[in-house]
Order: sequence, then C-alpha cells, then structure tokens
Amino acid sequence: MAEWERLPVDEQERVVGRRKADSAPLDIGGGEGAPLDSHKEKSSVTMADGTEVEMLRRSFPYADEREAGLLFVCFVRDPAQYEAVKNQMVSPATNGRHVGKDAIERFYTAVAGGYYFVPPLSDRDGYIGDFFFA
Ligand code: HEM
Repeated sequence: MAEWERLPVDEQERVVGRRKADSAPLDIGGGEGAPLDSHKEKSSVTMADGTEVEMLRRSFPYADEREAGLLFVCFVRDPAQYEAVKNQMVSPATNGRHVGKDAIERFYTAVAGGYYFVPPLSDRDGYIGDFFFA
C-alpha cells in the first residue's frame, strides 16, 4: 500500500485503467483507450470460442495496522473463465501482442485461494444440492 499511496493519482489511474474520481474508463488521449497493460485491459479476455469472459466480482478490501489486502471474490460459470483472466494478467502478452503483464501485479502478492461451488437460488423447487444445507 505504501508504494501505491506514493504514486501520483494519474499514475494510479494508468495502472487501473479507470479515472479515480468516478471510475470512468481512462482515455490516454486520441481515443486510444486505457493503457494496454492496465488492469482494465488485462482483465478483459476473449475465450477461444469468441465469447468475452463475464464474471461477477464481490471483493472485500481489508486493512489493519499490520497489513492490507483484497479478498478477491468472483462468481463465474466455469473456473476456466477465472483462470483465463488471471493467466492473462500475469502473462506479458495480450492476444499474442507483447504489452507487459497487468500493471496491478506489482502491488500485490496472492497468498491463498480456493474454488467453491455456489448452488443457484430458486424460490420454487429448491436448488441443486440443497439437501447439503438442510
Ligand atoms: C489485489 C488485487 C486486485 C486489485 C487491487 C484490483 C482492483 C481493481 C480495481 C480498482 C478495478 C476497477 C474498479 C472496479 O471496476 O471495481 C478492478 C476491476 C476489475 N478487476 Fe480487479 N483487482 C485485483 C485483482 C483482480 C483479479 C485477481 C481479477 C481476476 C482474475 C480481477 C478482475 C477484475 C475485472 C474483470 C475488473 C473489471 C475490469 C474493468 O475495470 O472494466 N481483479 N479491479
């Protein structure tokens, strides 16, 4: 966090690819969009079948006097979707083009993770696996 806080806001915005004040997509000028290594660009992935990865994110930032971090939580239909995004973030390439890895990678270290099955909710006949929780 100390390294992040030292960055001027315009550089933070280039790392994320969004304007800090209102989250609007950053345009670095001339309609070029956000920097190609920004988190916004690197976390945007098209799968081999041409579909764009869609994920619902529900992360939890935390900080105390010892450490700060983000419990990154996302919901996807298939773990391969999450993996495609994370792989592109740490890869120096995007769609075969060398753009460098996700600029946000400099600011955190992943320490643990897990995959969980989340049954869908239904107000009619229950949901798959509901007997596990009865
Ligand atoms: C410490 C790690 C991370 C930080 C601090 C972080 C931070 C952010 C921020 C500030 C945004 C833009 C604001 C927003 O839309 O909420 C964002 C967007 C996003 N992040 Fe992360 N993120 C982290 C890790 C990840 C990981 C591990 C993934 C997926 C593997 C991910 C996927 C995304 C996606 C898909 C977006 C939407 C892209 C967009 O802005 O249009 N992030 N993240």
